[in-house]
Amino acid sequence: MKTYLVTGGAGFIGSNYIHYMFKKYGDAIRIINVDALTYAGNPENLKEVEKRDNYTFIKADICDKAAIEKIFSENEIDRVVHFAAESHVDRSIKNPEVFVQTNVYGTAVMLNCAKAAWELPDGSFKEDKRFLHVSTDEVYGSLDDDGGYFYETTPYAPHSPYSASKAGSDMLVKAYMDTYHFPANITNCSNNYGPYQFPEKLIPLIINNALQGKKLPVYGDGKNVRDWLYVEDHAKAIDMVQEKGRLFETYNVGGHNEKQNIEIVKIIIETLRDMLPETDARRAHLTEELITYVEDRKGHDRRYAIAPDKIRAEIGWEPETMFKEGIRRTIEWYFANEDWMKNVTSGDYQKYYEEMYLK
Ligand code: NAD
Ligand code: TYD
Repeated sequence: MKTYLVTGGAGFIGSNYIHYMFKKYGDAIRIINVDALTYAGNPENLKEVEKRDNYTFIKADICDKAAIEKIFSENEIDRVVHFAAESHVDRSIKNPEVFVQTNVYGTAVMLNCAKAAWELPDGSFKEDKRFLHVSTDEVYGSLDDDGGYFYETTPYAPHSPYSASKAGSDMLVKAYMDTYHFPANITNCSNNYGPYQFPEKLIPLIINNALQGKKLPVYGDGKNVRDWLYVEDHAKAIDMVQEKGRLFETYNVGGHNEKQNIEIVKIIIETLRDMLPETDARRAHLTEELITYVEDRKGHDRRYAIAPDKIRAEIGWEPETMFKEGIRRTIEWYFANEDWMKNVTSGDYQKYYEEMYLK
């Protein structure tokens, strides 16, 4: 039985990945989830799995070397899937230091502890051990409106403190692979959407505001483009890269689903109107009049677009969920989980929202 050490598993993608893995492998794997439970980590995301005998949650910071060493010394870890990070660009613009700390230093701790646990006296590594570093397409910088894609060979050109810190962490993983032959892979994925996403990111923020009849803030001219992937397709890609990918390789993950932000906002309004019964009072205010153009994000990347040719050709990964279906499933999830949204938007979120949008 393989033992997985997942970092940041209480966040958006990490929790979806854990659900995906238990659905796929059931009792045939064991998962240890280490998460510091920052504002973005939520144990509620995992309440369906917390009673499983083959699941363990450990509250710890990945920067705490002693805590991570202890996990490796007490467990024979076969797979590391490293999600834990500060992940929101707007927060990185306001407060970059914690991004460097968690994303760069935290990754160094994870790499070093895994290396110490897996390295043999002759400098080679125990058989069948793998570390997967989950990264982003934002490390490649920004594309023009009129074409081009991010390939695995595209030079790094990060702009925000978030993407710079992720680029730093990717470079460390590459250095471990080059220097020690450390058994790792990197995945660089495009924007994800789906259940359990914290409403500081575009899609859940717009769904939440629209349902409350609040303004829908669109940065700049609304024509920035992101390449959206349903989160379960990302979880599947991570698993396939770990099991079928060539060691030391980077794989770009994306579904060729480019949309301007303004299109996304309009699709959400339309889908909500379509899904709410005629009698629901919230339908009345659900119009495009809620859209409000606000000041642009500093250094706002214009366009991201992934070329997923390598993962498709080498591993056979393809996205399964088309946007139309994915956004309906996402909205259905938020409808069915109103309490989840209420809980995560109480307290500190209000302060964040006021500072970001109401000042
Ligand atoms: P998230 O912010 O929802 O979750 C991050 C998780 O990491 C939270 O549970 C948080 O508590 C935990 N965490 C933060 N700092 C920690 C620390 N010091 N020690 C231990 N745990 C800590 O993020 P997400 O959207 O799920 O992203 C997960 C990973 O995927 C990140 O590495 C991100 O860069 C990458 N990624 C995200 C996207 C996206 O669209 N969201 C796209 C591509 C790649
Ligand atoms: P976001 O979800 O923060 O992801 P990222 O910055 O990592 O791509 O933002 C997606 C796009 O939506 C990005 O171009 C910024 C824009 N955006 C808005 O227009 N309004 C908002 O309130 C937010 C949060 C984002």
